[in-house]
Amino acid sequence: MTANSPQVAIGVRVFPESIAKLQAAGFTVRAHDSAQALQGADLVALAKGANSLLVSASSRVDAALLEQLPHLRMIANIGVGYNNIDVAAAQARGIQVSNTPDVLTETTADMAWALMFAAARRISESERWLREGHWQGIALDGWLGVDVHGSTLGIIGMGRIGSAIARRAQGFGMRVLYHNRTQLPATTAPNATWVEKHTLLQESDHVILVVPYSPQTHHLIGTSELALMKPTAVLVNIARGGVVDDVALAQALKSGQIGAAGLDVYENEPHIHAELLALPNAVLTPHIGSATKRTRLGMVNLAVDNLLDWHVGKIPRNTVS
Ligand code: DGY
Repeated sequence: MTANSPQVAIGVRVFPESIAKLQAAGFTVRAHDSAQALQGADLVALAKGANSLLVSASSRVDAALLEQLPHLRMIANIGVGYNNIDVAAAQARGIQVSNTPDVLTETTADMAWALMFAAARRISESERWLREGHWQGIALDGWLGVDVHGSTLGIIGMGRIGSAIARRAQGFGMRVLYHNRTQLPATTAPNATWVEKHTLLQESDHVILVVPYSPQTHHLIGTSELALMKPTAVLVNIARGGVVDDVALAQALKSGQIGAAGLDVYENEPHIHAELLALPNAVLTPHIGSATKRTRLGMVNLAVDNLLDWHVGKIPRNTVS
């Protein structure tokens, strides 16, 4: 290691080829080799003296942590959402922050559909029952779910991923409603109609959440929003924990106020509200929205490219502000 060589700390296990790319560019790499992302003092210990940091959404990089890393100049987040990083605190210290948009759009849209289908057609619940040995034959009135084709889909957050979800709905003959802070031009959302949030919640058979987490979107779906939804409705959250009030959701699923939920993200993840874990009508996955080999490798490589841009004095291709 030379005094001026770029040093990168990687707070979660990544792919060997991504590490090799950084090393080939002259980086000294200190990589954590576990799927459980480093946090707090452990992350500080790894990153001490490093001028760049590669982290996933599971590592919290807040002002207190940044204060302990005075050499840091660049943070490359592996993920499009970056609410794990205090961007304002980083910028106040002259630290660049980047993320990985676009590369995961289609894969994450697929996951929203997978959760919608699994919840609507009771896939996880019926499979568990089958594996437990209960199946005696086809019951015509058993395991009845709700249709996806021909139904009304409501999308809250019509950005890149929301639009990719809406595009898929055309093939299933669905009516698509969306709610966004701003109404999009018809060319951007050709098969979708902007409506107020309460109209979307009242009229949709399936509601998919795709908004970034922020103080403004905290508990965007809580008791009063769930009360507007149909008793057969499916709620899908592939956005971020905290966008949904998990306690209120568990209550709504338990009381039959809504039909089912498909969740990939949670408040306080990886800890999941005990009542959600016990509910048969909740399909629960461990934040795997972007988890295909091609997409995860694409995300890590894009984060690496952002680091390489910074290293050669360019503005990283995906800075956030
Ligand atoms: C993202 O990119 O934001 C995904 O949720 C993975 O963290």
